[in-house]
Amino acid sequence: MTFLSVDAVNAKYDKVHVLHDLSISVRRSETVVILGANGAGKTTLLRSLTGMVPKVTGSIVLDGTELTGRRTEDIVRMGVAHVPQGRGTFAQCTVEENLRLGAYSVKQSKAELRAGMERVYELFPRLGERRGQQAGGMSGGELQMLAIGRALMLRPRLLLLDEPSLGLAPIVIAELFEILGTLRGQETTMLIVEQNADQALRLADKVYLLETGRVVFEGDPETVRSDESIRRVYLGAE
Ligand SMILES: Nc1ncnc2c1ncn2[C@@H]1O[C@H](COP(=O)(O)OP(=O)(O)OP(=O)(O)O)[C@@H](O)[C@H]1O
Ligand SMILES: [Mg+2]
Repeated sequence: MTFLSVDAVNAKYDKVHVLHDLSISVRRSETVVILGANGAGKTTLLRSLTGMVPKVTGSIVLDGTELTGRRTEDIVRMGVAHVPQGRGTFAQCTVEENLRLGAYSVKQSKAELRAGMERVYELFPRLGERRGQQAGGMSGGELQMLAIGRALMLRPRLLLLDEPSLGLAPIVIAELFEILGTLRGQETTMLIVEQNADQALRLADKVYLLETGRVVFEGDPETVRSDESIRRVYLGAE
C-alpha cells in the first residue's frame, strides 16, 4: 500500500520554478533513496513535504491525509521528521538537551521521553557516552547522529534525511549507513536524498533520479548499479 504519494508537484520560490510535475510514491516501511546533483531540487522536495516551501501545487498525501497547505508543525505532529541538510543541532546544548528539544513538538510522558532517549542511545552508543557533552564540541559524524537521534525522538512514521553523508569521511559514512540499516524495514519509513550514491543504494528498496526538478528514472538499486551511464554520473568512476 502507498504510504506517501507525491503527485504532480510543482514548487517555486518567488520566480524560481524548482520542481516540475514531480511524482514519487513510497510504501510503508520502505526506504526510498533520491539521487540528484547539486541544485536538482532534492532539498526543495523535502522542504515541500514538510510545508516549508510557500508555493507548492499538486498533491502530497501521507497515509490518506493531504499535506499540501498544512503548517510545518502540523505535519511534524502527523509523524513526519525532517533531518535538514547541515543538521541544525543546538551547539550550546548538551546531547541530552538536544534530544529533549527534538521531542518538544509531540506530547510525550516522562517515561516515553526516557524510553525514546534510551532507544536513541542504543542505536547510537556514542551519543549515550556523550550525553552530557555540548553538541558544539562534537565531530561532524556525531552531529549527524545527534540530528537523526533528535528526529527519532518524535517517533516518526516518516523520516526525511537530507544528505546525511555530506562532509563526512568514508569510514564515518559507512558507520552511519550501517546504523540506518538497522532502522530499515521497521516502523519508520525513510526517504533519503543523497549525492553520494554508493552507501545509500545499499539501503534502498527503490531509487529515483532527479534532474532539474524532474524525475528522470525510477527503479530498483540493482538497475542503477548496472546502468553504465547512470553509474558514471551518480556513482563516480570505479
Ligand atoms: N530559498 C530559495 N530561493 C530561491 N531559490 C532557491 C531557494 N532555495 C533553493 N533555490 C534554488 O532551487 C534550486 C534547487 O535547490 P535545492 O536546494 O532544492 O537543490 P539540491 O538538489 O538540494 O542541491 P544540493 O545538492 O546543492 O543541496 C536551485 O537552483 C536553487 O538555487
Ligand atoms: Mg540540498
